[in-house]
Amino acid sequence: MNAPASARRSLLKFLLASPLLVALPELARSLQLPGEIISAPEQALNVFDFEAAASRKLPPAHFGYIQTGVDDDATVRANREGMGRFQLRVRRLIDVREVDLSVQLFGVKWDSPILLAPAGSQKAFHPEGELAVARAANAKKHLMILSTVSSTAVEEVIAARQAPVWYQLYPTNEWAVARALVKRAEAAGCPVLVLTVDLQGGSNREALERAVRRDPRKCATCHQGDVFTSARTYVERKPMFRGLDVSRVTTIAPLDMTWDYIKRLRDTTPLPLVIKGIVTREDAALAVEHGVNGIIVSNHGGRGEESGRATIECLPEVVEGTQGRIPVIVDGGFRRGTDIFKALALGARAVAIGRPYLWGLGAFGQPGVEAVLEILRRELQTTMRQTGTLKIGAINRSYVVAGGR
Ligand SMILES: Cc1cc2nc3c(=O)[nH]c(=O)nc-3n(C[C@H](O)[C@H](O)[C@H](O)COP(=O)(O)O)c2cc1C
Repeated sequence: MNAPASARRSLLKFLLASPLLVALPELARSLQLPGEIISAPEQALNVFDFEAAASRKLPPAHFGYIQTGVDDDATVRANREGMGRFQLRVRRLIDVREVDLSVQLFGVKWDSPILLAPAGSQKAFHPEGELAVARAANAKKHLMILSTVSSTAVEEVIAARQAPVWYQLYPTNEWAVARALVKRAEAAGCPVLVLTVDLQGGSNREALERAVRRDPRKCATCHQGDVFTSARTYVERKPMFRGLDVSRVTTIAPLDMTWDYIKRLRDTTPLPLVIKGIVTREDAALAVEHGVNGIIVSNHGGRGEESGRATIECLPEVVEGTQGRIPVIVDGGFRRGTDIFKALALGARAVAIGRPYLWGLGAFGQPGVEAVLEILRRELQTTMRQTGTLKIGAINRSYVVAGGR
């Protein structure tokens, strides 16, 4: 016999209030009552509200592409769990009326240390794709990093952002293609080049594969294959590769890339070069040695290898490896102002977000992305007030402890 709707609702409410679910937030979200899935960005209490809304709106395969990690998704979870291993040391009785969130990156002042990480194929999440994100970044004055495999060309994105964006490079196995992408980004006015180095080993995205199998639609009716089945057909449909000879492209992340490649790139472009995907002190020191200008501590949001290590836990050793000589940015699992604060306290100059703004985009387009940025900025400001830190530069190691000590 079916329980009446009101009884089911009461049971769900009871389950949602259970302490067990506090420890299992993902389960709690999947049990969200239908009426609790937001229908407008202003209803959101936090960035997770956009996750549920995007999951409702997007086709399973496209939402699966956002969510997927590799193997058992352990590194995706680790990125979140890592935040809980650090606690805040808050100071009292400080006048916190004026709080300044601005930071400097390569000589440019930004209103906030929150950046938009590069993410490919954004038209899969909303018809306006990268343009909606760029307009939101413009409205909220955030730095945006554009992916090589974007569904919109860099020139159009810069026009929508009304300011330069950083350019993320997947170099492919063809030097001529890499060089052409870099020169196009330079000509478009990108002030910083970001080389992603964490996909060289390939990635086993099982959650994505399962989502594709659950999706009743046929991928091939809209687009040919994906990067894992044929890199050539994948890049052929990406605007940044138009006009380039991609006939010999077999991968977007070359298997033979070494520190010599960094030198070659260094000699090819005058742009500051940032490496994305560094997670150890040894590689951080090598990056400095090879003239790299900045590092993004990243495991690709748990989409590269299944290391099981949270980026926030990698951050201190990377900062140590640079000996303070180049700025360090971090991404992976940042969902709350307190998470961002912890990274800043551990030595990050700025923090990038990936999935949260893609959830905002998928759920509501530009207003969704704006709302995500607004929530995170507000939460960070609140955390700064609560800890008594009036500017980003004042947030240091003394404001966090690990494991309660
Ligand atoms: C759907 C999706 C697409 C991504 N595409 C790229 C990309 O094209 N280039 C890149 O360097 N990183 C890419 N990333 C990784 C992000 O830049 C970033 O490292 C990661 O999303 C941060 O973790 P978070 O999603 O937990 O915030 C992508 C991430 C997602 C979720």
